[in-house]
Amino acid sequence: MAESPSARIMLVALEPEVAALVEATCEGCHFDRIDSSADFVGQYEKWTDDSYHAFICGSKIADFSANEMAQVLLNQCPGTLKYFITSDASKYEPRLLVKNGFTSAYAYPMDAPLIKQSLRENILSRVGQRSFRTVRVLDLSAGDELDFETYIYLPLNNKYIRYTAANTAVDAKKLEKLQDHEMARLWVDHRDMNKFYQYSAMKLRALGESGLSSTERQEKLKDNVRMLFSDIFDQSVKADFDQGKEMIKQCESIISNYVTKGASSNWFQKLMNAIGEGGDTYNHASNVATFAALFGIGIGHPAPEDLAMAGLFHDLGMNQLPLEVQEKTLEQMTPEEQALYIAHPEKSLNMVKMKRIVIPERVEKAIMQHHEMWSGKGFPKQLPSVRISQDAQILSFADQFDYLTREREGAVRVTPLEALEKIRKTGSINPDLLSQIRRLLLKDKEAAAAKTV
Ligand SMILES: [Fe+2]
Ligand SMILES: [Fe+2]
Repeated sequence: MAESPSARIMLVALEPEVAALVEATCEGCHFDRIDSSADFVGQYEKWTDDSYHAFICGSKIADFSANEMAQVLLNQCPGTLKYFITSDASKYEPRLLVKNGFTSAYAYPMDAPLIKQSLRENILSRVGQRSFRTVRVLDLSAGDELDFETYIYLPLNNKYIRYTAANTAVDAKKLEKLQDHEMARLWVDHRDMNKFYQYSAMKLRALGESGLSSTERQEKLKDNVRMLFSDIFDQSVKADFDQGKEMIKQCESIISNYVTKGASSNWFQKLMNAIGEGGDTYNHASNVATFAALFGIGIGHPAPEDLAMAGLFHDLGMNQLPLEVQEKTLEQMTPEEQALYIAHPEKSLNMVKMKRIVIPERVEKAIMQHHEMWSGKGFPKQLPSVRISQDAQILSFADQFDYLTREREGAVRVTPLEALEKIRKTGSINPDLLSQIRRLLLKDKEAAAAKTV
């Protein structure tokens, strides 16, 4: 592609809110638009891989099939990025769309954070803008020389500042300082991720360990959750009991490989590794599954895998609600948002059932009751404390814990113990459960500190 001062992007049949997201993310880029099938047919023959950096297509033209669009674009511009984004659940068929030629297919608003990240990494980085990815501090060792820079993120100022320079040894004091602040993550330029993977693979080999680094395990967890959700939402994936069984297997393997594996021996590290990573549906599901299973393990729950499963599925019914709305309080929501929000536990359960996924009764209960409160003031049923299952309470704690400890632009970082105190004030959780979790957090924090001395 010839040198160009800004990226050229073609928007085809995008819904207005999706177009607004793309335009805001790719500010300064050049946009062309097509909003009718006649215009598409009239123009496509001129396009080559040199015409645009990306085609971003949607479902706004009723008489034009997205799969045909994909085939035409694949034929004309095989090397150009081709995204499909829709808010119309009935048109979301990612498997088919990708098979026909789209690079990726996204559901809006659920995938908004992922769309932004993808635009930043694949389009804006070509025109000089930077994009960062997170890595786990646990994967770095003092004294190692890294051939890439690391950064810390300051959420309050929304800034990345350089933490270690490339080709210098990692300072032991600097790593300790991160631990003191309970910061488990650093950031690297996304183009340096391969260098990071090479470094961590080398390190694991040197230690004689097989498997994955903490960073990769977390990434794989999220990718797998995305694949699972994508199949659940995919209209072209048929809903029958065989398919349902496949999905439950997928779910169980996610849990055993990435959530509960090594959890009892590395409890605090696993907890810290999941903390802070916010920003999208898949991270939230992964984190809530992880936290629920970990707290379950910590208090001797008989089936932490079930808690993890409830964590994965609990907010499936929230896919129509943008993340910003999910972070509002009920009072701040519009009446329509409120109605969607209050119905989401039941909708989550319905989505699981519609795909013929058979889940244990205790998991169903936990999903249905994850917004019920110990005080009796929760929703949807305002159940009194005696009727709320303990699983639902652990799930509810994990859910709130993830919202509170998530890094947010403009917000101060919240530590696990501070989060616990905030949750206590809501009256949503059984005080006995809170004391048990508090003891776990204190005990393991001390143990982790003792290990590093
Ligand atoms: Fe929820
Ligand atoms: Fe949630």
